[in-house]
Amino acid sequence: MWPLPGAIAYGGDYNPEQWPRAVWDEDVALMRQAGVNLVSVGIFSWAMLEVSEGVFDFTWLDDLLDLLHANGIAVDLATPSVSPPAWFFHAYPHARAVDADGHVMGFGSRGMAGHSAPEYREAIVRVASALAERYGDHPAVVLWHVHNEYGVPVGEDFSASSVASWRRWLQQHYGSIEALNAAWGTAFWGQTYRAWEHVVAPARTPTTVNPAMKLDWARFTDDMLRECFRLERDAIRAHSDRPVTTNFMAHQSWNTDLWKWAREVDVVSDDHYLWSPDPDAHVALALSADLTRSVAGGKPWILMEHSTSAVNWQGRNIAKRPGEMSRNALTHLGRGADAIMFFQWRASRRGAEKFHSAMVPHAGTSSRVFREVTDLGQQLRQLGEVQGSQVRAEVAVLYDWESLWAQDLDWRPSDDLAFRERMRSYYERLWRDSVPVDFAHPEADLSGYSLVVAPASYLLTTIAADNLTAFVRAGGTLLVSCFAAAVDEHDAVHEGGFGAPLAEALGVTVEEYLPLRAGDTCTVDFGGQRLAADVWTEDLVLTGAQVRGRYLGGPADGAPAITRHELGSGVGWYVSTRLDTDSLAPVLAAAYADAGITPPALPEHLELMVRHGESADYAVAVNHHDDAAHVALSGTEIFSGQEIDGELTVPGGGVAVVRTAPTPDRDDVITPAHAVPQQVRNTYA
Ligand code: GLA
Repeated sequence: MWPLPGAIAYGGDYNPEQWPRAVWDEDVALMRQAGVNLVSVGIFSWAMLEVSEGVFDFTWLDDLLDLLHANGIAVDLATPSVSPPAWFFHAYPHARAVDADGHVMGFGSRGMAGHSAPEYREAIVRVASALAERYGDHPAVVLWHVHNEYGVPVGEDFSASSVASWRRWLQQHYGSIEALNAAWGTAFWGQTYRAWEHVVAPARTPTTVNPAMKLDWARFTDDMLRECFRLERDAIRAHSDRPVTTNFMAHQSWNTDLWKWAREVDVVSDDHYLWSPDPDAHVALALSADLTRSVAGGKPWILMEHSTSAVNWQGRNIAKRPGEMSRNALTHLGRGADAIMFFQWRASRRGAEKFHSAMVPHAGTSSRVFREVTDLGQQLRQLGEVQGSQVRAEVAVLYDWESLWAQDLDWRPSDDLAFRERMRSYYERLWRDSVPVDFAHPEADLSGYSLVVAPASYLLTTIAADNLTAFVRAGGTLLVSCFAAAVDEHDAVHEGGFGAPLAEALGVTVEEYLPLRAGDTCTVDFGGQRLAADVWTEDLVLTGAQVRGRYLGGPADGAPAITRHELGSGVGWYVSTRLDTDSLAPVLAAAYADAGITPPALPEHLELMVRHGESADYAVAVNHHDDAAHVALSGTEIFSGQEIDGELTVPGGGVAVVRTAPTPDRDDVITPAHAVPQQVRNTYA
């Protein structure tokens, strides 16, 4: 259901309601100049559309859609549910969201509504229905954009309507109060509930709140947000056959389990912004793109928002340097995006985001940013043939939002061991080794991969552990990082102790976690190589594994640190400490060897991604270094039309896309991404 078949979509959020009508004409002329073929319209337009309850004014939107259509620009039409109007909150003050401290979210911003308020739900269906009824068949509309970034700025809600939904949700999932008490372990600290109406939300408590309750609260919040999405989506579908999406935030999302969300949309979309303090933010970008493609099941996805230059909401908002925007865009494309969109088309003169970059900056069209925007539009027009081609990977990195929610709760053995940090370090190692990866849910079918890496699998169900064990037995290589398989789906320590569900696959369990003091380090002797470790060590109990690395120093001095275990025709590696990206190199190299993977030898800082099409492959090269890089390739460089005979030169900071002969889909080495499990776990099913 790609909205613009045979084309890479290019454009951004378009908020013309902030501008006089005359500017719209200039906008569309400039859009054509820039090669824009898709814009997202109406994301924050509720107040302009429904001027008072049930009274709609579509005149401006009629005019706008016709104008865009007449100029050949397609529309991703948004429902404005992220920003209810002032009259709505005036009429329904109880629909405002409430935070954990009981603060009611005031009007004058965006995203203030609570997901469970009946008046809010009724209103979003009314607006979505009205929009779809009017524009469902409009020739400009090729895509529906429901809401905006579910979960931010408001995800959790502690209002009365939310707490009422929470009790209903718990009743539905547990059936009896006894089952709830058992799952939450309420015998601890005397929390036993005797009636549903006694059950509270995990708001501010004197000390840390029951972690199982908190974990369920995260699931509940996610479910409620998805219910809101479904209400709007179904209202649209009643009147329109155009695909429906909503913009995710992949690795930055907290409240949304994207494995579940991806099954609800017709096309996956993602927003990504560079995090300025990160000197290698392009690695986080690649991670986000791979994760997005993976939740999309390998299908084409939309980069719905990124920035042409600086954002405005970080402490220090660093402007992109010449060429950086194009490198960012091409990295997303190389990792499966078939649409490159920005927030936003024209920089706002007023409001909270006036210092945010845009495709048309405040400096106007004689600016570096607009020139680069136009150049990128031209390049993407040349890449239409890439649309629909796919990325293949033989490595899967396990990613589970439930494990993120659980691991980052309070009172873990060490605050220093965090889900996202481990994910990034392992990913960065694979990135630096130029090994393509998919992300996968731990209960997904992993049989197409040769290597599965589990950087942060603190919460691992026995179903997932059995899945991983079967993967190893059948010949796969599994590499598991520390603090794995500690708890089950209710944050209860697994019977048999830490890591017990993976004992068969790894030949090791954990007797005790031995975190380090802040700043303390130790070393691991890995076959004579000295690897730097910090934050975390473990006291391991070998149940069949061979020791491949030993601690030198620290609380586990002399004891096993890294193990390798053979099971069936596969191998399970366990790394019981925190290694940085450099120290992970020899460990991953050993795992690649077991998995039969040979990483390509590429120049450092040259990011090479391959998309496989039916009649050609496309090698997308992005040079993150100031010096030119050379890579062995033959084919046609699409932007220049130049024939490449054996060696491609990518200028410093530059990009290139080379059409090469297609590689057959060899089942034994490469698989299409298929990381989305058929049936995402429903803990209570
Ligand atoms: C988010 C929102 C946009 C805008 C950008 C700014 O992604 O979806 O509306 O606020 O951030 O970076």
